[in-house]
Amino acid sequence: MNNFKKISKWQAIRDCYPSLKQNIYLNAAGMTPMATASYNAGQAMLQQMHENVRAFATSYVEKSNIARAVVADFYHADPSDIAFINTTSLGMNILALQLKKDAEDKNEIITLQDEFPSSTFAWQRQGFAMRFVEPNVDNTYNIDAILAKITEKTSAVVVSYVQFGTGARLNIESLSYELKVRGIPFILNATQAAGVIPIDVKKTPVSAMLVSGNKWLMSGTGAAILYLSPEMRTSNFPSIVGWLSAKNIGFDNRLNELNPNAPSLEVGLYSLLPVMCLQASIEFIQSIGIANVYDRVTDLSSYLITQLQKKGANIITPLAVENRAGIVAVVRPDAKTWVAMLEEKGIIAVLRGEDMVRISPHFYNNYEDIDALIELW
Ligand SMILES: Cc1ncc(COP(=O)(O)O)c(C=O)c1O
Repeated sequence: MNNFKKISKWQAIRDCYPSLKQNIYLNAAGMTPMATASYNAGQAMLQQMHENVRAFATSYVEKSNIARAVVADFYHADPSDIAFINTTSLGMNILALQLKKDAEDKNEIITLQDEFPSSTFAWQRQGFAMRFVEPNVDNTYNIDAILAKITEKTSAVVVSYVQFGTGARLNIESLSYELKVRGIPFILNATQAAGVIPIDVKKTPVSAMLVSGNKWLMSGTGAAILYLSPEMRTSNFPSIVGWLSAKNIGFDNRLNELNPNAPSLEVGLYSLLPVMCLQASIEFIQSIGIANVYDRVTDLSSYLITQLQKKGANIITPLAVENRAGIVAVVRPDAKTWVAMLEEKGIIAVLRGEDMVRISPHFYNNYEDIDALIELW
């Protein structure tokens, strides 16, 4: 039997998250607790800054390179395609600036009706016209409906792998293939998927991918990952620069040749502290195995769906396993008061919109957590 089918194994993993002693936490799509290993990694760095700044200063680049290699390995990417930034929102701004100048006549972005604003605001701010694709009645999206919006003015398709509200998961394998054939840049917001669904940018090419570290990657705020494929590093790359964007890093203040790799976008000495936590989180996930994580999250979310169905709940997340990941959303007319009541009883699920409750278990949750929520239905 796979070791990770054993309850005891998952219990030991759960014990690595002290925050879970505070409440029954079912909000991985919002903010996640941090594992002891990630906390220790952050602490070690703070301690070094406090006690031995010379060692901190001289190991910065090496630590950064190791973290980059860990992230790259997780996504089957090359380290030169990975930049550490702060947020997905920032990443979208960087990409919007680049594409705006790359091709000024291509000013349309295709996106999805219920995208998170991090995916859309930056483009609107830079003057792109948004072409929103409508979901099907079950909240899934057809790839054909996305492709049908393409015109000669399309600059890129910008979509989330998993929708933050409904939890609907996109068939990115098919979308990636179709966009590549048509030569349209594919920008993926994988914030609600990375850390649950295995991602392999070699098998499923994307032009760029953004992931915030504070959700399924469990590393607190302050670190996000930008994957930028070599094809996307076109004439206006890097669209923002700092002193470390130079090809030959030095103290020459005349902007000359630029580093052609993704880290050019890091614009100076970025905050390594959250990246240390992020690295440790990814190593923790890797020690479990992302396939085991995916199975566990799918088991928990499927159990949740079955229990909700027994209660006759109005589930708006698509039911087929391939059309969802860790988020399960239900509509209840009294959602606001119900979520408040849950919180009073120590169960954390969140309200989205007026009447939707979003429940998002991660691998550290268990069946009892779900039973406790269902009991209060
Ligand atoms: C799909 C998606 N993208 C991005 C974010 C957060 O973005 P940022 O890193 O800009 O805070 C969220 C937060 O809920 C999200 O659901």
